[in-house]
Amino acid sequence: MGACNLAGRDLLKLLDYTPEEIDYLVDLAADYKQKKQQHIPVDTLRGRNVALIFEKTSTRTRCSFEVAAHDLGMGTTYLDPTGSQIGKKESIADTARVLASMFDGIEYRGFGQEIVEELAKYSKVPVWNGLTNEFHPTQMLADLLTIREVFGSEKGICLSYFGDARYNTGNSLMVLGAKTGMHVTLCSAAKYFPDPKLVEVCRTIAAETGGSITLTEDPDEGARNADVFYTDVWVSMGEPDEVWQERIHDLTPYRVTMDLMNKGSDRAVFMHCLPAFHDLGTGIGQKIHDKYGLNEMEVTDEVFESTKSVVFQEAENRMHTIKAVMAATLGA
Ligand code: CP
Ligand code: NVA
Repeated sequence: MGACNLAGRDLLKLLDYTPEEIDYLVDLAADYKQKKQQHIPVDTLRGRNVALIFEKTSTRTRCSFEVAAHDLGMGTTYLDPTGSQIGKKESIADTARVLASMFDGIEYRGFGQEIVEELAKYSKVPVWNGLTNEFHPTQMLADLLTIREVFGSEKGICLSYFGDARYNTGNSLMVLGAKTGMHVTLCSAAKYFPDPKLVEVCRTIAAETGGSITLTEDPDEGARNADVFYTDVWVSMGEPDEVWQERIHDLTPYRVTMDLMNKGSDRAVFMHCLPAFHDLGTGIGQKIHDKYGLNEMEVTDEVFESTKSVVFQEAENRMHTIKAVMAATLGA
């Protein structure tokens, strides 16, 4: 594992990290994963405490931070979407200074990227982005670890993302691919393509790492040679219910089906940050079914439940990678 000193650093978006630093974090996570499997204790941050701010709901990210912090020997305080003063009675700048005086690190999940950036600006302890509208960096580290476990290396891997490509997951996969030399294709209706300025930044980075960024509206082109088929929900947290009809209309052609996956490479796998609408086992899934007649949305149940699907390995890797982020930035 190449040495990188990340002590004191925030993790706000992967654009702020070098390929070497990303590599280091994922190697560290793999090491923590092995240690966890062997029941080797790693509680090198005993006595420290972290604050976990969630202005949006979460299963994986919250549990990953809590379990990882506990494994490292730390205490956690969870601030839910309604139970604190944040944003309503207290500014982000004031919140940052209060929490930084009590905690050793702060996780933030919420809305605009500018909020987590502001939090970090006023915090003297590391701030970790647990998802904003624009970026989801801890998800990307888990995805990279998963891709390495499946393929041995990410170099030259063709990753195709289908769906709403201008939100946190699509943006972040493009940055991840650019930083790590993958060939990322974002496949969607043009109005869901990422911000052209971010595409340009990523293409410049990709030119140095041997990766590439392609945008296409054609699902067959998106599927061609794809090693990873990746999708995300069509309507993200914080978006209004009114957009469902338009999204269903616009994004149904980009659903990941077995037919689509069969057009990719022989070794193709399916990835999804989760949660996923692949059956009627959710309240929203059932409501959409009743209103629009759909049984599945961004991915078919056949793909989700198939042996090509690595989504639960990917979900587990959230915990190991978040542990690496906290350990590295807190100087464990
Ligand atoms: N993938 C992800 O961030 O899941 P949660 O919303 O459950 O944290
Ligand atoms: N794009 C999704 C990701 C969830 C992990 C959302 O923001 O809701």
